[in-house]
Amino acid sequence: MCENNGSSFPCSTHRGLVISDTWPGYNLDVFSLPNHYCEDLECVYIPHGVIVDRIERLASDIMKDIGDNHITVLCVLKGGYKFCADLVEHIKNLSRNSERFISMRVDFIRLRSYCNDKSTEDLQIIGEEELSKLTGKNVLIVEDVIGTGRTMKALLSHMENYNPKMVKVASLLVKRSAGNNTYSPDYTGFEIPNIFVVGYALDYNEHFRDLHHICVISDKGKEKYKV
Ligand code: IMP
Ligand code: MG
Repeated sequence: MCENNGSSFPCSTHRGLVISDTWPGYNLDVFSLPNHYCEDLECVYIPHGVIVDRIERLASDIMKDIGDNHITVLCVLKGGYKFCADLVEHIKNLSRNSERFISMRVDFIRLRSYCNDKSTEDLQIIGEEELSKLTGKNVLIVEDVIGTGRTMKALLSHMENYNPKMVKVASLLVKRSAGNNTYSPDYTGFEIPNIFVVGYALDYNEHFRDLHHICVISDKGKEKYKV
């Protein structure tokens, strides 16, 4: 699953757990999946347990860097809700069990930029009034996936208007070579090839958010739920 990226360790901490282009995923038959999606998926790409274990480590990296501060976690909906909930839970557990702690407030905004599996120029920000509360605050943006990087760059440049004290970005997934991707978050869960994935709150036209694992959608699934 993990690619040796030239460093002495197979997984670089900056790029997260690097999944190689040749990773075929796991056969659907060896995991429990909802029946209603059985024809719509190609494979289980990252099992739920691996996702949660990786988030535990991200939480501890975040604690090391910004422990003993008050932070505002800005969850980017809808795709970021599972990642954000698990990340906040792990940070809370670490805070409870150590000398250092992070006190947190959690806010939400909603961004929409995808139609089918394609990024569009049209970025909608819903709940922009939340951003005005971020002036002078330490902000941790929690996002599901960075593809072209367009969405995150637009959000960050928009946030500059509100003068936060510090902004860090955690993204569960970052896609390699997804067009003009020049944006790298501060914390990355997994680096993946440029493929479209669903599950663990990531959607395809609002479907598949209820899937436990991160999976690759099949051509049949793309066709079935296309708008
Ligand atoms: P970007 O602007 O291309 O970086 O796309 C970022 C946004 O598009 C993410 O916040 C997701 O909501 C959505 N997105 C990008 N790739 C995927 C994917 O593979 N599955 C589901 N959503 C995606
Ligand atoms: Mg998103």
